[in-house]
Amino acid sequence: MEYAVSTRELTRAFGSFVAVDRLTLNIRPGEIYGFVGPNGAGKSTAIRMLCGILEPTSGTGTVLGYDLVRETEEIKKRIGYMSQKFSLYEDLTVEENLRFYAGLYSVPRRELKERVREMVAMAGLTGREQELTANLSGGWKQRLALGCAIISRPAMVFLDEPTSGVSPISRRMFFGIIQRLAAAGTTVMVTTHFMDEAEYCDQIAFISGGRLMAVDTPDNLKKNVIGGDLVELELPGAMDRIGEIEKLPYVKECTVHGPLLHVLLESPSHRAALREFTGAEPRPILPSLEDVFIALARRKSAPDA
Ligand SMILES: Nc1ncnc2c1ncn2[C@@H]1O[C@H](COP(=O)(O)OP(=O)(O)OP(=O)(O)O)[C@@H](O)[C@H]1O
Ligand SMILES: [Mg+2]
Repeated sequence: MEYAVSTRELTRAFGSFVAVDRLTLNIRPGEIYGFVGPNGAGKSTAIRMLCGILEPTSGTGTVLGYDLVRETEEIKKRIGYMSQKFSLYEDLTVEENLRFYAGLYSVPRRELKERVREMVAMAGLTGREQELTANLSGGWKQRLALGCAIISRPAMVFLDEPTSGVSPISRRMFFGIIQRLAAAGTTVMVTTHFMDEAEYCDQIAFISGGRLMAVDTPDNLKKNVIGGDLVELELPGAMDRIGEIEKLPYVKECTVHGPLLHVLLESPSHRAALREFTGAEPRPILPSLEDVFIALARRKSAPDA
């Protein structure tokens, strides 16, 4: 199987409103594929179509080789799905929740005990199997919900904002688990609003207004999305000089970052002129992912696909 997920012009409308607009994407097996974009961009709607929960209005696609319109039952059997509102039963214990989901996914009886033990260990809940789920704090609940989603050892798992509302330490632990899953061959699709998490992804798809605006590795996005050459300058009295620097014909943008100035030049060939003008040495830097996403979100329409 070349791709774990492959879609062509996948579209979902609600009435006359198009929530997901001709989404074409390919996800390779074992990849961590991040979905990033503003609120209402269509991320959850896209995931629900890929999981076979929501029917596309038009377009085609396969998940794990199965058609996402005609073979949704085959898809549902083979994937794990975790939504932002972790669907755990608060009045069940840790172990009872895991057993419940194992039953839902028809985990073979003879494997049940071992799988439960494995998921409890993964979630860091060993010794707390009989505790009521309601008593767990956010990070543990989240890892238990992941355990429930992957107790059937799915080939692919969809995680829709799995880390909202948990602490940075829990988020870090969670992504450690995700990375181990992917290293063992599980394909992971995850949506997030956290840039540090986006950095862990092999590929990031940025969607806005239902459309795919960019998809690439984090490094390539930083190199390619913001057109121009970004440099920093250590310049005494930077604040007073920002006005004149901004006016230079080859400067696209100039911003203050603490004691430094970030200057976006049209091309690296303008560094010498900037050095001449300011008397400071321009040092090339990469934009942050946050810079990239803000730039993408500002663009009104997607480049022609
Ligand atoms: N069942 C529905 N009926 C009508 N509109 C819907 C329905 N589901 C989603 N939408 C609309 O589709 C758009 C995309 O919603 P979606 O939940 O996919 O966005 P999202 O990218 O997941 O946002 P967030 O980051 O806030 O989770 C929104 O404008 C939403 O209001
Ligand atoms: Mg969403």
